[in-house]
Amino acid sequence: MRKPIIGGNWKMNRGTPNETIEMLESLVPQVEGIDTVDIVIATPFTALTKAYEIIKDTNIKLGAQNMYFEDKGAFTGEISPQFLKEIGVEYVILGHSERRDIFKESDTLINKKLKKALSISLKPIVCIGEHLEEREAGKTMHKIEYQINETFKDLSKEEMRKIIIAYEPIWAIGTGKTATPEQAEEIHIFIRNLLSQKFDKETADSIRIQYGGSIKPINAEDLFNKKNIDGGLVGGASLQSDSLFQIILAADKSIK
Ligand code: 13P
Repeated sequence: MRKPIIGGNWKMNRGTPNETIEMLESLVPQVEGIDTVDIVIATPFTALTKAYEIIKDTNIKLGAQNMYFEDKGAFTGEISPQFLKEIGVEYVILGHSERRDIFKESDTLINKKLKKALSISLKPIVCIGEHLEEREAGKTMHKIEYQINETFKDLSKEEMRKIIIAYEPIWAIGTGKTATPEQAEEIHIFIRNLLSQKFDKETADSIRIQYGGSIKPINAEDLFNKKNIDGGLVGGASLQSDSLFQIILAADKSIK
């Protein structure tokens, strides 16, 4: 039995101190007592400390949207994973398609970051997914397999079991065009089968695979009802507490 996990990825859309206080002070009482779903909020770096003050004694966990793979040094503009840990960050999103496409992060770099996160017990949420042209050319599975092979290179089963995968078809991110539950489930099954071949069935069955891409309160339940979809990584709908709360409730309902 895999516990669903809902991640709110605020991207660079919200994160002033006032916005952070407003959103989280409203979310905390809404989700109080929900222990069937893991809840993670990934704010911009500048809002992490403020967010932690509000959620530290609650069931909401703190996530970062990125990190570097070194602890310290001359890396202007980068963020040390150790700094994140010290301010209460538990999860880190790695390899988001926006990092890959806009900031040219390679699978090799993401693999290094992933190993670093695992080595200091930050819980990685690793994003994979295909572009629209790849889907239309029938190359979705090929892309996913490539990303899995490269991003998860040289990991042990024990390490792999600590990772959360987010399948985010890039054509569905921020477009309002959600993958249908059937389209998403097909890829989630494909991912799980690949993990089973690469590691073993027990490992594959234990790994949580989130869906991400235009999740809204209206479509969340149908997605989460699919057997291999273990919650979601939510962008736009995570900016308001009411919509994120509805999505968390959908995840809670999917296991009952
Ligand atoms: P949207 O929910 O805004 O489509 O964003 C999804 C996403 O990229 C989450 O990481």
